[in-house]
Amino acid sequence: MTPEEQAPDAVVVSEIGDTLRHVGNVLRASDLARRHGRVSDLIGLVVEATGLQAEVGEICMVNGDRGHPPVPAEVVGFRGARTLLMPLGEMHGIGPATTARATGTPFRIRVGEDLLGRVIDGLGKPIDGMPRATGGRPRSTIASPPDPLERPRIQQRVDLGVRALDALVPCGRGQRLGIFAGSGVGKSSLLGMIARSTTADVNVIALVGERGREVKEFVERDLGDALAHSVVIVATSDQPALVRIKAAFTATAIAEHFRDQGRNVMLMMDSVTRFAMAQREVGLAIGEPPATRGYTPSVFAQLPRLLERSGTARVGSITGLYTVLVDGDDMNEPIADAVRSILDGHIVLTRELAHASHYPAIDVLQSVSRLVGEVVSPEVRAAGQAVRQLMAAYKEKEDLIAIGAYQSGTDPTVDAAIALRPQIDRFLRQGVEELTTAAEADQLLLDIAARVGEHTGVGPEPAAAPAAPPPPAAAPPQGGGNPAIPAMPNLA
Ligand SMILES: Nc1ncnc2c1ncn2[C@@H]1O[C@H](COP(=O)(O)OP(=O)(O)OP(=O)(O)O)[C@@H](O)[C@H]1O
Ligand SMILES: [Mg+2]
Repeated sequence: MTPEEQAPDAVVVSEIGDTLRHVGNVLRASDLARRHGRVSDLIGLVVEATGLQAEVGEICMVNGDRGHPPVPAEVVGFRGARTLLMPLGEMHGIGPATTARATGTPFRIRVGEDLLGRVIDGLGKPIDGMPRATGGRPRSTIASPPDPLERPRIQQRVDLGVRALDALVPCGRGQRLGIFAGSGVGKSSLLGMIARSTTADVNVIALVGERGREVKEFVERDLGDALAHSVVIVATSDQPALVRIKAAFTATAIAEHFRDQGRNVMLMMDSVTRFAMAQREVGLAIGEPPATRGYTPSVFAQLPRLLERSGTARVGSITGLYTVLVDGDDMNEPIADAVRSILDGHIVLTRELAHASHYPAIDVLQSVSRLVGEVVSPEVRAAGQAVRQLMAAYKEKEDLIAIGAYQSGTDPTVDAAIALRPQIDRFLRQGVEELTTAAEADQLLLDIAARVGEHTGVGPEPAAAPAAPPPPAAAPPQGGGNPAIPAMPNLA
């Protein structure tokens, strides 16, 4: 019997039944009961509450005593019947038996167009002296990475505006690269250069665990006018560990918001090591056992959860540049190791180059982009290989060349490397204010590669490299001019 054929009363009863079932479902799914608990202990960074039914990741408000405002805190674990909370701010006003109330939601931030040009803290509050952005909508900072099978392959290069990278370590749209460097070797300057010249639509820059002094320096000196199409998220080293962790996730959620609108986003995080250290602090505080170098297992679980969220997606893309601190040049330190295995390539900045005032201090031979074959033309790729070969040959004989013990004519590749060294060096060095495009970088690289044949009799077809500038007869001797170029014998 169709509904039309049923008696009218039966139809009404069935509709009421449907409505009641729906209301029942909605009531069951909603969180109407107020869930309270009481603070029983506060040990180090962790507040323990009894009687509080809340999920991991849920935000609870711990009421402040004597006029202090409520303190938001996140559920980070459980011990027996007690809930472990970590405050997302100062702990003033939390005392014995203070009430903790579950809010039913995870940590969320407001994301919208009005975030562009703003500097905010890890919890989304403005720190640039301007009023809070009120547009947009709340978005959880926790999200799953896009479905792996829905991610388009990376095929297009994104200009970084740094010659050494665009031509020799190219970055695809939606690729994720690690920048491995010690302190003070030019990470912030490099990120600033990229933010100013990249062809990405929006920059999202997370400064995690930076010194407070450096933030203004980065925003004003390194970023400059690029701030207009950037969002900067800052959690300085004095912030609670949970806020430093949140800054990394907040930045990723903001990048995802712009990506979902179909934009190509450049997400830069300085540094993932400080994020890992913050996660270690949280892990140790809630009783996780330390594993490798004191890092707790949750650190290694969180890293892929953070780093896998960038990349390509069905619409838009997030290109990710993540810096990793490798002090003491220990590239096998556990965080460096873990990050390298997750990302699609790495850029290495070395102290030797920085000491020699060779900026950006990119060690091309140690840097690898796993997608070079996909994002540059075969000619540029071949030219890059030819130039890398020269650099490797020079490096191998560097000591001999430096003391004048290398006999010219012994090895044609080394001869070419010595002769072309000044040109390669000019190509690799770049001042922070010097803006270039990837196309210019390609052409300069092709020019160098075209000259390899002049010295070795092999190399890419000259046709692939038009208009090379007239070559100097040989490398001039370096007399104190350029400290990065060791003294070379005059081959003329
Ligand atoms: N392209 C460049 N040209 C000239 N000098 C540069 C360049 N890049 C970096 N420098 C020099 O290196 C110094 C340190 O750079 P920067 O602050 O970017 O390093 P960092 O790795 O971010 O340091 P920290 O680890 O302290 O954050 C700068 O003050 C600047 O003098
Ligand atoms: Mg820096």
